[in-house]
Parts: sequence; structure tokens; C-alpha cells
Amino acid sequence: TRRLILDVDTGIDDALGIMLAVKSGVFQIEGLTTVNGNVSLQQATLNTCKITEFLGASSIPVIPGADKPLIRRPVFEHRVHGNDGLGGALLNMQPSKRPEAGFGPDFIVETVLRHPGEVTLVMTGPLTNLALALHKCPDLIHHMAEVIFMGGVAGGLGNITPTAEYNAYVDPEAARAVLHAGFPKLTMVGLDVTRRALLRAEDIAKLTNPHIREYVTDSTSAYFDRYEERNGVRACAMHDPLAVAAAIHPELVTAKSYYVDVETRSELCDGQTVCDFQNRLGRPANVEVCMDLNEQAFIQLFVDTLNRPEAG
Ligand code: BDR
Ligand code: CA
Repeated sequence: TRRLILDVDTGIDDALGIMLAVKSGVFQIEGLTTVNGNVSLQQATLNTCKITEFLGASSIPVIPGADKPLIRRPVFEHRVHGNDGLGGALLNMQPSKRPEAGFGPDFIVETVLRHPGEVTLVMTGPLTNLALALHKCPDLIHHMAEVIFMGGVAGGLGNITPTAEYNAYVDPEAARAVLHAGFPKLTMVGLDVTRRALLRAEDIAKLTNPHIREYVTDSTSAYFDRYEERNGVRACAMHDPLAVAAAIHPELVTAKSYYVDVETRSELCDGQTVCDFQNRLGRPANVEVCMDLNEQAFIQLFVDTLNRPEAG
């Protein structure tokens, strides 16, 4: 069985990633762990409950994790994701779905140890929960099938500071712990590829389920406006869904092994992921860095998967 834990700070694109994972039916989803990030832990957890219930997938456990970065203060992204984190979609929904009583990092450890070699962990928020899980159980690295995270940027501009990507910026100490943990298979889906994974209005128009189409339209409309202002194109960057897609169909992305570290002690560059493309440090590679993607095939996968009739 291919088992999946999805770790999310449910904002707009995390929610689309959850939809992709649930509707694809490729994985047995063991749980959705939530983390402070785009919004508070509480809001991320509520949003995650809303989305699972909306998808008719309330049986998937939602487990709250870290409510702040390892040592820093939270940095919310309300400008991008709206006050509620879902761009105002499902605002009045009062889900009956409730989160579990446990703690996200413990859930990760327990689930992985219960199914050694079978669990893929996809992370689409700051990496705090996995850092805490590793602190508790460093051996975890040997029992995980694969870890894929959306975060960082290897050879490009940041999206929260000039050099840093948001998830790496929010908890760089956690990112560092994950990068240096020694995972045999760790994949970075950074802005290098995710900012080229664009969903446009005509793609949304192809969604056949009216509820899903309406949700995606509502949730992304303010995002589209902001993205157009900044980039001159009306689109929604599918950061988090691409990380999920990389788990479902690895051939959608092209990755190369590099040594990557993250800056944690610079006023200007904290959270910057530094990729040693020319191996100047002489260190062994620690992560597969996605540098290219098949954008069309990815968007097609997203639309086709959301058009699947059943919940997954
Ligand atoms: C990442 O930051 C968040 O705002 C998004 O949800 C995504 O995970 C992109 O940098
Ligand atoms: Ca996210």
C-alpha cells in the first residue's frame, strides 16, 4: 500500500493540494497534519476540516501539529490567502468534522513506525512538524518511503524576501533540521518549478463538478487579482498541488541531486535556501531538487483528478 501523510498550513494552494491527494485515490491517506504557517494553527486546522468535509472525506484524520515555528514567531500570509486562509471560500461553513486529539509530530512518528517503508510524507507548509518528529525519533529517516516538501528556491528569487521562499523563511531552523537529517529520499519542490505551475481561468472552467468549480473559483479569485498585479498574468501559482503531484506522478518533475543548506543567521537572507550547484563545498548531496516540470501535464492531471466522480 502507498500510504500518505500530508502536512499542511491550509491556505489556498494547500487546499487544492489536499483535493488533488484525496481525489486521486492513489494513496491511502493516513492523516492530514496541520501546522502554523499561512494562518494560525487553529485556522489551518479548521480549514483542513472544512476541505475534507467538503470533499466527502471526513473519515481522514486531521491532527493539529505545531502552533509556532521552532524558535521564531509566526509570520502569517493573510495578504496572499485572505483573513481566513481560503480566500473567503467556505467562509460560513461550520464543519461537523473535528480534529483528532493527538499532536501532528507524534502522529507522523507513530504512523511511520507502524508501517515502515510505506509512508510518503508530503509537506506543503513550514517544516516544523517534521523537525519535531525527527527530534523525537531520529531513526524516522530509515522508515519513511519518501519525503517531498514544497519550499525553498534553488536558483531564483524569493517570494517573501528577495531571496527566501515563504515556507523556508517561516521556520528555517526546521528546514535545516530536515535537510540535514539524512533522508535517503528527500525531494524539494521549490519555487524553481512551482512558480511555473500556473492554473488559469480556462483550466478552472474545465472542472465538471459545479461545487468544486465554484469552490476553486471563489477561493482563487483574489489570488488571481494579486498575481496579475505583480506578474502581469492572471493565474494561480500551484505551489502545493505540485508537491502532491510529484508524489503521485514523479515523472511530472525533473530533479537533480544537490547539497542544499538554508541560511538562519542573516538579517537580510534568513530562510534563503542555498543550492551548491557546482559542489564548491564538496559536501554530499542531501536532496533531490526539482528544476523542471511538465506544466501542461500537471495542470491536466489536476483538472482530470478533480473531475473524478468519487471522493477517492
Ligand atoms: C508556499 O507559501 C505558502 O503561502 C503557500 O501555501 C505555499 O506553501 C509558497 O511559497
Ligand atoms: Ca502551504
